[in-house]
Amino acid sequence: MIHCEGLVKIYKTDDLEVVALQGLNLTVEDGELMAIIGNSGSGKSTLLNTLGGLDRPSAGQVKVGPWDLLKITEEELVQYKRETVGFIWQNNARNLLPYLTALENVEMPMMLSGKVDREYAKQLLEWVGLKERMYNKLHQLSGGEQQRVAIAISLSNRPKLLLADEPTGSVDTATSDMIMGIFRKLNREIGVTIVIVTHDMTLASKVDRVVAIRDGLTSTEFIKRNPNIGLDGSDSVQPTAKGLTGVHEAYVVVDRVGRLQVPKEFLTALGIKDKATMEFDGERIIISSPKLLGGNGNDKS
Ligand SMILES: Nc1ncnc2c1ncn2[C@@H]1O[C@H](COP(=O)(O)OP(=O)(O)O)[C@@H](O)[C@H]1O
Ligand SMILES: [Mg+2]
Repeated sequence: MIHCEGLVKIYKTDDLEVVALQGLNLTVEDGELMAIIGNSGSGKSTLLNTLGGLDRPSAGQVKVGPWDLLKITEEELVQYKRETVGFIWQNNARNLLPYLTALENVEMPMMLSGKVDREYAKQLLEWVGLKERMYNKLHQLSGGEQQRVAIAISLSNRPKLLLADEPTGSVDTATSDMIMGIFRKLNREIGVTIVIVTHDMTLASKVDRVVAIRDGLTSTEFIKRNPNIGLDGSDSVQPTAKGLTGVHEAYVVVDRVGRLQVPKEFLTALGIKDKATMEFDGERIIISSPKLLGGNGNDKS
C-alpha cells in the first residue's frame, strides 16, 4: 500500500530550512493496521501529510498504491485525495458543520463529489456506533461522538488508506479505547489500511505493528532539540548497520508464546538469515548475527 524510501521533506521559510524528514524508509502492506510513534517534532504529521497528498515530498520515493507522489501532477493529486485517502485529525471541529446533523455531515463530502449514498452514510454511522445519534445536530454531540462522526466522514469516499493524525489526542481513555476499537473493526471488516500517528505509547499494544520515528530532523537539529531522546526516556540507540540511516527502532508485538517478528531490513542489515544469537543482560535482549559474537557469547565490544 505504502512504500517510502529515502523520503525527504524540507520546509523552506525565508532563509530557514527545516529538514522534517531526512531519508525515511517505510513499507506498509495492504490491509495493515499500524501506528507510527514519535515525540513531538519528529516529523509524524509531515509524513502523514505527505502520504495524504497535502504536502509535496522534496526527494526520495513515496508510493501509495499505484500512485507515485513525487511525480504526480496537480490534477492527479486532486483525484488521489478524493479516491484513495481518508484523513482524520486530532481536532476535527474545523471540518464539521455544527448546525447540520451527523448524517448530513457525512453526506456533505459525498455531495461535493457528486453522489450522495444515504444508505452508505447510515451504514458508516452505524459502524462507528452512532446509529441512535445520526439525526442529532453536531453541536449536540460530545467531543468523542464528534470524533466518531469524523471517522465516518473520512470513509465516505471509500478510501483504501485511512490516515489518522493523533486521533485520540484530545479524548479521554475510554473514548480513546472505543476509537481504537472502531479502527480495528473497520480494518478487519472493510479491509481498509490504517496508519495512525501518535505520541501515545499505550496505543502500541492496540495495533498490529508500530514503527517509531525520531530522526525526521537533521542530526544537528535533532541533537540540539532532543539531547537525550529515547521514546521511553532511555538513551537513544543509534542504528549502526549500513543502510539503516533514517530508519527507526521498530516496536513489535510479542505474542503469547513469545514469538516476535524482527523487521526484515534489520535482519538484512546484519546479514542474519536463519540463525541469530540472543543475549539477555538483565535489561535488554540483544539479537545479533552469530558471527558478530565471540565464542562465549559474552563479548560486549
Ligand atoms: N509548514 C511548515 N513549515 C516549516 N516547518 C515545519 C512545517 N511543518 C512542520 N515543520 C517542522 O518540521 C518538523 C516536524 O514537524 P511535524 O511533522 O509537525 O512533527 P510531529 O507531527 O511529529 O510533531 C518540526 O521541526 C516542525 O517545526
Ligand atoms: Mg503532529
